[in-house]
Amino acid sequence: MRNEKLQEMYCAHRPLIHFTSKKGWVNDPNGLIFYEGYYHLYFQYYPEGVQHGPMHWGHARTKDFLEWEELPIALYPDEKGTIFSGSMVYDKENTSGLGTKESPPLVAVFTQHLEEGKKVIQYQSIAYSLDGGMTFTKYDENPVLDMGLRDFRDPKVFWYAPEKKWVMVTAAGQELRFFCSDNLRQWKESGIFRQEDMKPDVIWECPDLVKLSDEHGEQRWVLFISQNTQDYVESGVRYYTGYFDGSNFYAESGTKETLFVDFGRDNYAAATYAEVEGRVIQQSWMNCWAYAGILPEAGFRGSMTLPRELSLKKTAEGYRILQKPAKEALEGLRRFGQQVSLSSGNSAIEFIPGIYHFRLEKNMESIRFQHAGKWIEIKIDFCYGKIMLDRSHCGGKEYGPCFQEMNWMYFHDLKDRELYVVLDVTSLEIFAAGGESVGTFQYFTERPLENIVIGG
Ligand code: FRU
Repeated sequence: MRNEKLQEMYCAHRPLIHFTSKKGWVNDPNGLIFYEGYYHLYFQYYPEGVQHGPMHWGHARTKDFLEWEELPIALYPDEKGTIFSGSMVYDKENTSGLGTKESPPLVAVFTQHLEEGKKVIQYQSIAYSLDGGMTFTKYDENPVLDMGLRDFRDPKVFWYAPEKKWVMVTAAGQELRFFCSDNLRQWKESGIFRQEDMKPDVIWECPDLVKLSDEHGEQRWVLFISQNTQDYVESGVRYYTGYFDGSNFYAESGTKETLFVDFGRDNYAAATYAEVEGRVIQQSWMNCWAYAGILPEAGFRGSMTLPRELSLKKTAEGYRILQKPAKEALEGLRRFGQQVSLSSGNSAIEFIPGIYHFRLEKNMESIRFQHAGKWIEIKIDFCYGKIMLDRSHCGGKEYGPCFQEMNWMYFHDLKDRELYVVLDVTSLEIFAAGGESVGTFQYFTERPLENIVIGG
């Protein structure tokens, strides 16, 4: 697809398979749900500008995670506040009474953020849809959960079958709070999750709690938290594996360990799709608050990662998550022949978007994606089990130190030498070591990347 259209996309910094809105500012994915053949993506949206503003929930849907159809805005701010992040459930039994048994509602649970002079308050509200998520009616007794807190947001709600009840987990500053409900309208607090020795500048956002399995069918609950720190050094999506008893979560190796889902900078506010049978599919905002507001814009700003399927792997140090691109996206890209396999030498970049597959033979390898004397470099050191990415040679000084730094992580599987890169106009997503080492990176070049150089 080396043509003028691609050059045009580069000038506009418009990804081809990663969701972007036609105009305006986008951050976190919200209310992810599979319903009647479509994956619905709602998202933090400010349509009137390219900075974070009074937030709405935008809406898009897809069947294959490659082609996205943007739909009318789902939720607008009101006198109770702007609409911050949250989740969506399909209330099949109409426990909320907001639909009927014959026509059960989709219920969105979200934070309303209210600023009155210097005072800020956040509480949880709900809205329901009886037309498959196209339009929503806000519940007239909102908010449904108000603790009088300033930082109290991003409710993730799910059905806990063993006790036939709804569970909500929310971020509240440096801790997570758990609540239960029979009807999505009245909530009772059931637990608090904290980490020992938390640094004072840490803030937790966008929690998610799901059950994952390893290849032997062994299961653990996995708690995901988006963590922001003032200098962004320890910002990103972290996770704990452990147990959930219907009221609270317990990390199986204590809370000292810090595991991140991604060694890149551009994976934040991760959320999973509700109502997906047999798979857990996670998607994130492909960005970092350190520079999200100063990256190039062309009337729109912000995009989402490629959705990923999650599973667990048991290692000597405990469970780790594995990630691979969602099946639909993989199949779609392969169907269009957009998969290229390489093991050495130079090669022209044929497809954007495309999946580039590498088989690494030696102990230390580097892979460069080049364009007009500039490059992005992946380095893999199999002796130490370390993968790195350096995008500092491809511009971006103006986006600050977080954009320029070298990112890396250790991995356990030194035998698996397959590496996949999903390449789009402004992003590179790396899947290595069987999905144990995943890195998500944005890049901004004036012209399409031209070739790949594999070095020893
Ligand atoms: C995370 C976040 C959430 C909040 C939303 C506001 O990126 O800060 O905690 O609900 O963005 O847009």
